[in-house]
Amino acid sequence: MLQPQNITDYYINTHLKSGSVAIDATAGNGNDTLKLCKAVGENGKVFAFDIQKQALDTTAARLCEEGFENAELILDSHSEMDKYITSECDAVIFNLGYLPGGDHLLQTKAETTIDAIEKSLALLSEHGFISVTVYYGKNSGTAEKEAVMEYMRTIDHKKYTVLTCDFHNRPNNPPITVIITKN
Ligand SMILES: C[S@@+](CC[C@H](N)C(=O)[O-])C[C@H]1O[C@@H](n2cnc3c(N)ncnc32)[C@H](O)[C@@H]1O
Repeated sequence: MLQPQNITDYYINTHLKSGSVAIDATAGNGNDTLKLCKAVGENGKVFAFDIQKQALDTTAARLCEEGFENAELILDSHSEMDKYITSECDAVIFNLGYLPGGDHLLQTKAETTIDAIEKSLALLSEHGFISVTVYYGKNSGTAEKEAVMEYMRTIDHKKYTVLTCDFHNRPNNPPITVIITKN
């Protein structure tokens, strides 16, 4: 069955090549960081952010296991990405919500997420993309989802295309993946 990560994977596989620069804005357990490291290769670079040391430790262990040294793991909010990255980026991946098995209070928040998406737009290369997967449910994430989806509608349609992938007939608040590309 099609999953949100299949949509993001399609963009990773079609838009990134050896030497690309990518950002994992929410490293978590490192699944996307690892995919990005594989896609950009040893000549490329991945910046991975998380506010939890536990998440970056797990990510570092996974990268080490697989032999990747092309990532810089940054213990800070993605809303500060412009302090660490000045070059253009070919991909920025957000997986909103909380660390599976971790503290739900440390989930992503609308204000910092929107700040980080704005900064990602400014860093995006001509053929780059941003993927934002929004997880929400009755107990968490709904306010962030509302604010992020509202913000997406305000992005300048002359400069960017905002594509929403929504599992329309699935029950129980299925995640929404938004892909942003430059026109
Ligand atoms: C759903 S998890 C990410 C899952 C991850 N993509 C993976 O492959 O395992 C969301 C992560 O975002 C992190 N997070 C929350 N607020 C953040 C912020 N402002 N900046 C960076 N990371 C943040 C959480 O600590 C959590 O690890």
